[in-house]
Amino acid sequence: MKNRMTATLAFLLMAIGLAGTAMSEEMKPVAPNVDFETGAISVPEDYTKWATLGTWAHANTEGEPGSKEYHVVYTQPETIEYYQKHKRFPDGAVLVKELLNAETMSMTTGPAVSHATTIKGWFVLVRDTRGRYKNSALWGDGWGWSLFNAPDSKKTVSTDYQVDCIACHLPALELAPADAPKDDKWIYTLGYPVFQRK
Ligand code: HEC
Repeated sequence: MKNRMTATLAFLLMAIGLAGTAMSEEMKPVAPNVDFETGAISVPEDYTKWATLGTWAHANTEGEPGSKEYHVVYTQPETIEYYQKHKRFPDGAVLVKELLNAETMSMTTGPAVSHATTIKGWFVLVRDTRGRYKNSALWGDGWGWSLFNAPDSKKTVSTDYQVDCIACHLPALELAPADAPKDDKWIYTLGYPVFQRK
């Protein structure tokens, strides 16, 4: 009886030990919108309650005044705090770029005032400082990369970040502050005033 109890206890301790290894610091979930097992990314459900980093206005190109599209970028408030302190993105930082259609009209404030209308989709980046999900083509160069078409905020439509994303983010490497960590340079931080503040 005593032996059996000792064996059970030993087994329990081993199981606890194994569970402890599985949840080691290295393997902790990166962000709330990442499936821990597969690395699948989704659009974070509550991102509109996060802080906005900045907005990119895309001008009408057909000779009309105003904007035809806005790209509004959100992140967790704690990412802003961390970046201001350390001048780099923390592991698990999430950047959500919301693509919005826009319309322009005359208003009491001016002759050509643009406003956002419907959501077209989302580009999502998740900072990964530990090289997770090496077998996934959506992860690499320090980030998880995913595109979503509205209204489906769960299904990634991009398949390979090296094909779908990287080429367009190459100019960011040159625009980034010279002392930024290598993988942070993929981000167009020049568009985010809260990051420029001292
Ligand atoms: C057509 C070029 C292009 C492609 C393709 C592209 N990006 Fe970007 N991305 C940009 C530019 C330029 C900006 C900033 C200006 C803007 O949005 O107009 C940006 C900004 C972002 C931002 C906001 C953070 C930042 O870097 O400023 C996220 C998030 C993002 N892209 C994710 C992605 C992901 C994920 C993919 C691939 C699925 C991707 N992008 C593909 C050009 C591109």
